[in-house]
Amino acid sequence: MNQAQAKKRIEKLKELINEYRYLYHVKNESIMSEEAADSLKHELANLENQYPDLITPDSPTQRVAGEVLKAFNSVEHDQRMLSLNDVFNVKEIEAWVERITKLLGKAPDTYFEDVKMDGLAMSLIYENGKLIQGLTRGDGYRGEDVTLNIKTIESIPLKLRESESTKKYLSGRTEVRGEIVMYKKDFEELNKKRESEGLPLFANPRNTAAGTIRQLDSKLVSERKLYFRSYDLFIENELVETNELVYKTLDELGFLINKMSKKVKSVKEIEDFIKTWEDKRHELPFNTDGLVIKVNDRNLFKELGIVGKAPRGAVAFKYAAEQATTIVKDIFVSIGRTGSATPVAILEPVVIAGSTVQMATLHNDQEIARKDIRIGDSVIVHKAGDIIPEIVEPLIKLRTGKEKIFKMPENCPDCNTPLKKEKVEDVVYRCVNEKCPSRMYKLIEHYASKSALDIEGLGEKNVIALINANLISDQADIYALRVSDLEELERFAEVSANKLVSAIKDKKNPSLAKFIYGLGIRHVGVQTAVDLANYFTSLDKLSEATEEELENVEGVGSVVAESVVEWFAEPTNIKLLAKFSEYGVLIQEVKKTTGPLNNIKFAITGSLNTMGREIAAQLIRDKGGVFQSSVGKDTNFLVVGENVGESKLIKANKLGTKQISEEDLIKLLKG
Ligand code: IVH
Repeated sequence: MNQAQAKKRIEKLKELINEYRYLYHVKNESIMSEEAADSLKHELANLENQYPDLITPDSPTQRVAGEVLKAFNSVEHDQRMLSLNDVFNVKEIEAWVERITKLLGKAPDTYFEDVKMDGLAMSLIYENGKLIQGLTRGDGYRGEDVTLNIKTIESIPLKLRESESTKKYLSGRTEVRGEIVMYKKDFEELNKKRESEGLPLFANPRNTAAGTIRQLDSKLVSERKLYFRSYDLFIENELVETNELVYKTLDELGFLINKMSKKVKSVKEIEDFIKTWEDKRHELPFNTDGLVIKVNDRNLFKELGIVGKAPRGAVAFKYAAEQATTIVKDIFVSIGRTGSATPVAILEPVVIAGSTVQMATLHNDQEIARKDIRIGDSVIVHKAGDIIPEIVEPLIKLRTGKEKIFKMPENCPDCNTPLKKEKVEDVVYRCVNEKCPSRMYKLIEHYASKSALDIEGLGEKNVIALINANLISDQADIYALRVSDLEELERFAEVSANKLVSAIKDKKNPSLAKFIYGLGIRHVGVQTAVDLANYFTSLDKLSEATEEELENVEGVGSVVAESVVEWFAEPTNIKLLAKFSEYGVLIQEVKKTTGPLNNIKFAITGSLNTMGREIAAQLIRDKGGVFQSSVGKDTNFLVVGENVGESKLIKANKLGTKQISEEDLIKLLKG
């Protein structure tokens, strides 16, 4: 990007960020998530770093704090309301500890930690134990006087509770700080009500709480459920010794505190707290945006002082952001193993939740049209946990006019076969060419994958190389590969050519289940393949099965049955199977052992003490019995293990299936 282009981008970013800020902080409306806005600010800061001449005083990066609304009285805080610096990982916590250790001359004995509530900071002033004022943070030095409004919040005591240990807080001036939050369930209820009344919906609990506190009519505030949860306490001319004591005292004074907050001794313990709350925080009634970690000793905290807007003695730990903004560089169509054609966005790489995201699936062209995603767009990308990254929306205001609308191609981008439009639940385009190279390489890769034939050395790259060299064009061809063919290819030096050919040769006698799974029949997963193999016992019998017969197999419904019948009727597949046997692939038949458990059908629920489920299944089969993955009408015994889920038991009770223990099963197996 040259200077002129950077200037244009900066202008647009500033406009959008500023609009977001105004709507979010002043009007309590949200046009994008905070994380997405942070990502834009980050981009702006980077560009300004690169071109410092382009920094203007009105840039959002130059802003220090929020504004004070005019409608309320502006009041000076007794002491500044500070912010916290963010840390994002344990390394940064270690660095923080190291910094303060250096400054203090020794490491603090203890730290105090709590979840960071996502609400609005509030300072409450009590005089002689009576509430006299409630102030918002404002710019940190001066806040808005919202006393009438906060008085309607039931969790705020109008009078402090008196006890032996709280006496000194009941005379003179006492300040309590905390967060005003709206609980998630109250927020949802409120929005449901608004929806039924045809009113616009609120964006999130925090905005709703902030907007409510800024209402000029306190009656309206009293109708919204808000909570005050405290975390700080001050009195005149004296420091409360520790944060641990602050929480204890707040509790005694009659405030809501977070009971999970605690004192810890080391970074290791801080790390444990981080791990514990990473998922558990979602179960709390209010939203959190991380954790707060403070030096426990408040004298040390004071000694450490303030840099900018934040104290040195505390940090906010932020869990990995789940949203970021980036650019759609291109959209291409990927052909899956069953021929499905899925548009995929290629993104400017961006780190989200700790991993680099460079692609996002777009599902189908309708979804792209609905979201109006164009090539060249700046977009918000969401990624949480293990889910596949997804584009939330394009940032239309950042468009330059050069963005291109994506059109689904009419033909397969690989083999040029016209794509067939199918409608299942959503529209799916499918390349119906059984020989399509894209499909083929995915099919071969699937055949060699761990859960199928498990052939080492036959991953994506090698499969593509072999297809490109015209050495293979389907799964069976791999068995005709010779070391001398491979040696001519750059990828396979002599050793690896030998290795691959022998790895393939080793898999000439696959088990029936693995072979069925390896064929890549639509809707046939690992378990279905096992069920089909056990029921039909040979590939010949399976290939001749009718839909009706297939549906007799426990767990096989009409969709799977139809797909299997279709697969075996397809001429290309008939030829493929013939080729396998021509190359000497001999599939092991499932031997129906006759034994003491001949044809007796077992299902298992829960976990067994003496063996895993797979082993139990094998032992049952060895004795001639049948292992079923779910309870059916014909199930003779349900083996009930430990930590049992309810569904199988309910079904067994309904069907009157006999229930036995693990010991009973072992007795039966021993005969
Ligand atoms: S302690 C020096 N504890 O986060 C400020 N703050 O970014 C020490 N917050 O202004 C604050 N939950 O509005 C603390 N458990 C908690 C908190 C918490 C939310 C907010 C608070 C503060 C801001 C700092």
